[in-house]
Amino acid sequence: MLAEAEQARVRIAKNTHAEHKSRLGQFFTPAATARFMAGMFLPPASRPMDCRLLDAGAGVGSLSGAFLERCAAGGLRFERIFATAYELDERLLGEMERTLSAYAGPAPLDYRIRHADFIEDAINRIQFGGETFTHAILNPPYKKIPGNSRHRLLLRQAGIETVNLYSAFVALTLAMMAPGGQVVAIVPRSFCNGPYYRPFREYLLRHAAIRHLHLFASRSQAFRDDDVLQENIIVALERGAAQGDVTISTSTDDRFADLTTHIHPFDRIVHPDDPERFIHVPTSPEPDALALAPAIRYSLDDIGVQVSTGPVVDFRLREHLRELSGPGTVPLLYPGHLGGARAQWPRPDLKKPNAIERNAATEKWLYPNGFYCAVRRFSAKEEKRRIVAGVVEPQTFGAAPLLGFENHLNVFHERRHGLPEALARGLAAYLNTSAVDANFRRFNGHTQVNATDLRLIKYPSRAALITLGEWAKRQAAMLDQAMLDERFSTLAA
Ligand SMILES: C[S@@+](CC[C@H](N)C(=O)[O-])C[C@H]1O[C@@H](n2cnc3c(N)ncnc32)[C@H](O)[C@@H]1O
Repeated sequence: MLAEAEQARVRIAKNTHAEHKSRLGQFFTPAATARFMAGMFLPPASRPMDCRLLDAGAGVGSLSGAFLERCAAGGLRFERIFATAYELDERLLGEMERTLSAYAGPAPLDYRIRHADFIEDAINRIQFGGETFTHAILNPPYKKIPGNSRHRLLLRQAGIETVNLYSAFVALTLAMMAPGGQVVAIVPRSFCNGPYYRPFREYLLRHAAIRHLHLFASRSQAFRDDDVLQENIIVALERGAAQGDVTISTSTDDRFADLTTHIHPFDRIVHPDDPERFIHVPTSPEPDALALAPAIRYSLDDIGVQVSTGPVVDFRLREHLRELSGPGTVPLLYPGHLGGARAQWPRPDLKKPNAIERNAATEKWLYPNGFYCAVRRFSAKEEKRRIVAGVVEPQTFGAAPLLGFENHLNVFHERRHGLPEALARGLAAYLNTSAVDANFRRFNGHTQVNATDLRLIKYPSRAALITLGEWAKRQAAMLDQAMLDERFSTLAA
């Protein structure tokens, strides 16, 4: 029966205009993922109970269908099931009706399709004390909520401060759950970190226990957000329950062929001393080498270094950019100049400017020539590492007095000046270790590495970084990943 919903999903997705999909945040769940999600609900305790199921933004009903399929197969036993499915897009209601009605026989089911705006309806119910749900399964729409929109104001009235429809749907769902109610939702991973989602994380952790997180490792399974590829995560939450250990599972994609499952203590998921309440997703059973290293506990402030996004925004300074250097220009660095462990310049093959005019309009965006550590902000889609750091060496640029760092780079500096050579080398070596990359992946699902992320990483002391940099310089071109990773253990102790 779910097969029919699956066909409808594929047909509708193919025949729907991209603009319509984006306006309604439509991304339908494939049957295999829907079944996996339905499998994440814990069966009811021995006494048979009624199930009040919520599916918010139900599409063609694939998720409710998978839940009901599991009930029909005896995997979840209830006296009766009352399902409520919300959907704004009228075109999907017929298919949803077909999916749900197919289960009216096998399971003792009553269902209600609400052609309504879930946010408005939920807020009404919360304010006027409507019925609660025991189970919710959702793949909510993914779309930014503008700051002055009606949705934002309504949500604020209900005490929910959030920036995207998906987090709003999850928060409202939690608000409507009965104590012990279970929620399984597939959402982008972006809520796990980042300042904008902090109020949502606090809301979630205050009202529910996290029982299970499933991470898809392949970014081809992803939502798109302004061309930023994101990972998807499935969360299983329990309203009002005491927080215990958390099950973390991963699979490359929705074939689940390489499913791995581990159980972690909660303090490895949300660190007890973290005011940001980041939700870490350990992808291996090994503890986070960085978090456990006593000698790696310094902030960039502690080591006297700042990190900034490259200040040269090329489209704003287009008229000042030059393909190659010439009189009156200074070198300009793009991520392409950071191919290996050190910057290479010029690169006429890059199809990017190599130089920028030095004049009254550009001067304030330029740094003095010197040693810097630079990190690319975007890694290629399937690149092995997220953090790619390189050393910028002043001799590469001859007598150039100033340098331009383009906006797709992050640059480590000391009050907008270069760093001591060994410190620049030490920072790059440290950031290129596998341990730092693994630590970064635990809290960040983006392919982007922003300056704010680099500020959140813990570093060895300034003295240890300088020693590391001196060592890295001695290795010169011999330095490889295995050597860096071996050296990490001496840093950590
Ligand atoms: C990401 S899709 C998921 C659909 C379905 N749950 C699934 O998993 O295949 C989200 C759905 O929410 C619907 N939607 C968007 N905004 C909504 C709103 N404010 N109220 C109710 N439904 C909404 C969209 O039309 C879309 O069908």
